[in-house]
Amino acid sequence: MDVYEAVVSRRSVRRYIDRPVPREVLERVLSAAAWAPSGSNLQSWHVYVLTGGPLAELKKRAGERVASGDAWDEREFEMYPPALKSPYRERRSAFGRERYSALGIPREDWEARQRAAADNWQCFGAPAALFCYVDRDMGLPQWADVGMYLQTVMLLLRAEGLHSCPQMAWSVYRRTVAEVLSPPDELVLFCGMSIGYEDVTVDHVRTGRAPLHETVTFVDIRAKHPSCP
Ligand SMILES: Cc1cc2nc3c(=O)[nH]c(=O)nc-3n(C[C@H](O)[C@H](O)[C@H](O)COP(=O)(O)O)c2cc1C
Repeated sequence: MDVYEAVVSRRSVRRYIDRPVPREVLERVLSAAAWAPSGSNLQSWHVYVLTGGPLAELKKRAGERVASGDAWDEREFEMYPPALKSPYRERRSAFGRERYSALGIPREDWEARQRAAADNWQCFGAPAALFCYVDRDMGLPQWADVGMYLQTVMLLLRAEGLHSCPQMAWSVYRRTVAEVLSPPDELVLFCGMSIGYEDVTVDHVRTGRAPLHETVTFVDIRAKHPSCP
């Protein structure tokens, strides 16, 4: 699979078949992903991989929390700015519309939306997951490094015929995750990631993207500085 195909075919898959992901495949992907760049090569990601019994245990504990209506854990970071401005607000609304209309859930059906969101804490049926932590001493540039690392992981998963879904949703159940993983206190859970083979019997809507001119500016140096060769 070439890089363009890996990038374009990666999407957040939210339904998986019950087919285990071989340990050697995960090791191959994570070994290659270690070549992701990071400022001064800090490599500030800390990754825990769960499959089999430990993942089943986490899903069980998370499911019990959801069923009991337990409140979310207090946040260690804001997922989004409190008042999203334009155009981000509109993009977020469009995403919500796309996601819930694909599931046949009307906008006003709050309970059905909550049920769909709760699938996050079952990893959408995925047989493997990783949890990515960052040292709490790290700043914005190192968090960006972690993003590059995670995208590298997701692209390599495509090369192995696997799909994924990054999930900040796990950060609101970070204490439950910590019960299973026992990470050191100095780490902050950034996100989980479901990993597995897509259930292709489930319809999905491809999430759209802003047109290039909204996010990219090609600077024409001659228009700005006519004397430039
Ligand atoms: C850091 C990060 C956190 C995300 N958290 C969640 C999540 O908790 N649950 C979920 O279903 N999708 C989550 N997503 C997936 C986004 O909704 C998705 O990437 C976006 O809508 C674009 O769609 P695509 O990935 O299918 O191209 C997350 C994505 C990123 C990059």
